[in-house]
Amino acid sequence: MENNRTSFGSNFGFLMAAIGSAVGLGNIWGFPYKMGMSGGFAFLLVYLVLAIFVGLAVMVGELTIGRKTGLSPVAAYRKLSKKFTWLGYMAVLVPFLVLCFYFVLGGMVTRYALGYLTAIFGWNTWGVDNIADYFGQFICNGGSMILWTAIFIAINGMPALFVMLLIVIIYVACQPGAGGGYKFMFGWNLEPLKEDFLNVLKTAAGQMFFSLSLGMGAMITYGSYLSKQEGVQKNAVIIVICDTLVAIMAGMIVMPACYAFLDGNTSSGPGLLFLSMQLVFDKMGYIGNIMGFLFYALVFIAAISSSMSLLEVITSFKVDQNVEQGKAPGRKKYAIIVAIIIFIFCLPTCLDGLGTGVNDGATLGTPAEILGMEWGEAGNITEFAKDTTYYTVDETGHYSAVAADAAFDANETYYVNTAKGWNCDWLDFYDMLSEGIMMPLGALVMAFAIGWIWKIDMVVEECEQSGHKFWGKGFFNVCYKIITPIGMAFVLYAQVTGFFG
Ligand code: PHE
Repeated sequence: MENNRTSFGSNFGFLMAAIGSAVGLGNIWGFPYKMGMSGGFAFLLVYLVLAIFVGLAVMVGELTIGRKTGLSPVAAYRKLSKKFTWLGYMAVLVPFLVLCFYFVLGGMVTRYALGYLTAIFGWNTWGVDNIADYFGQFICNGGSMILWTAIFIAINGMPALFVMLLIVIIYVACQPGAGGGYKFMFGWNLEPLKEDFLNVLKTAAGQMFFSLSLGMGAMITYGSYLSKQEGVQKNAVIIVICDTLVAIMAGMIVMPACYAFLDGNTSSGPGLLFLSMQLVFDKMGYIGNIMGFLFYALVFIAAISSSMSLLEVITSFKVDQNVEQGKAPGRKKYAIIVAIIIFIFCLPTCLDGLGTGVNDGATLGTPAEILGMEWGEAGNITEFAKDTTYYTVDETGHYSAVAADAAFDANETYYVNTAKGWNCDWLDFYDMLSEGIMMPLGALVMAFAIGWIWKIDMVVEECEQSGHKFWGKGFFNVCYKIITPIGMAFVLYAQVTGFFG
């Protein structure tokens, strides 16, 4: 079966699309908060090691599989070997899970961008007539104007995001106290690895897959559009470097901001970006509104280009299936249907107050609350154990944590949180299934198959078609055969033990 795909007109176009997929909320929102919770420098180090030894190899592997077969994941894996078709199906399920929170975060970014925009003018300047006149002319130029604008934004969005990040990096660097953030991020400190190596490893690995758009269908699909003339390795290296750079830049904004404005508290989780940047823009005064708008508008563009590529993987699975069965592709229809279904699955993410829980005022409970596994009696204790948080319950059923220095009361019933891994919010739950388990599992099996079954020669052959020498054969062979499978086995082990205690 020859593939009938057109490829990108230029390698630049391909790179822009692929980097557009990779650079997104994973970099700007995910990287800083995971670094903040998982030891700063130790996390950065593990992340970089993984990006070089696992991410790059998996990137080359996925682009190769895509380009070699010219197909999207399910069909691509099926063509290579029937045994691995399930990897393709998993690659369709993963973007589904990711979008169950990605859409919600995208919505939050939009709300922030608009919030700052209106603040520039004050609320009352909304809907003024002359703004409509101005845009009226623009719209009269027809649909092609919209298309060109979209292309223009897509191409310029990334460099603009880069410049914006640089400006904010410099601003934050000038704030008193910011130094602590750099020390946290770049100061040689491996204590967190000694304390809980598996936790840092699993967090960094999940983040790496998520941020590089790996371990699912996206890069296979992109590879299927990559022209046979272009070098796979070169593109993989550029994507990994650009994506990592943007993540580190976001870290260099958020971490120092935490030290300058939040007393060095970097571990507030998924809310960290919104919480810390709010204080940065507030400190800027009026200009902060403009900067806030530009910042969130650019993050919005990065998020849209990523969520579109996630949605595309699911949609193209259905479209390819239709075409195979001789039916009309129905791309638009399925894109809308899929988006609506995911919207329904987004509702828990929207309603649990990012894990605030019904206990503390959210509309919907966390997974643990809903399953009723959150609270268990502490049992026959005669004193507080160290490192355990105890709770008491009042007549309204509200649990509150006992202060660390409170005296032990033998007549009180104490409770502990027994939900272990279930004790996460819905965002983390979807995230744990997708980037925590399925992405590493997908990468493990793919790397194993390339290393031991299909052999590295499959990659070399495909990559050298373009006349580019494949320089990394030895390096990638070790990555596929040993480093990725073993590394990911550790990650999965850490994930499972972390969950079930
Ligand atoms: N890499 C994107 C980000 O960092 C998210 C994404 C994951 C996009 C997987 C496509 C596929 O935000």
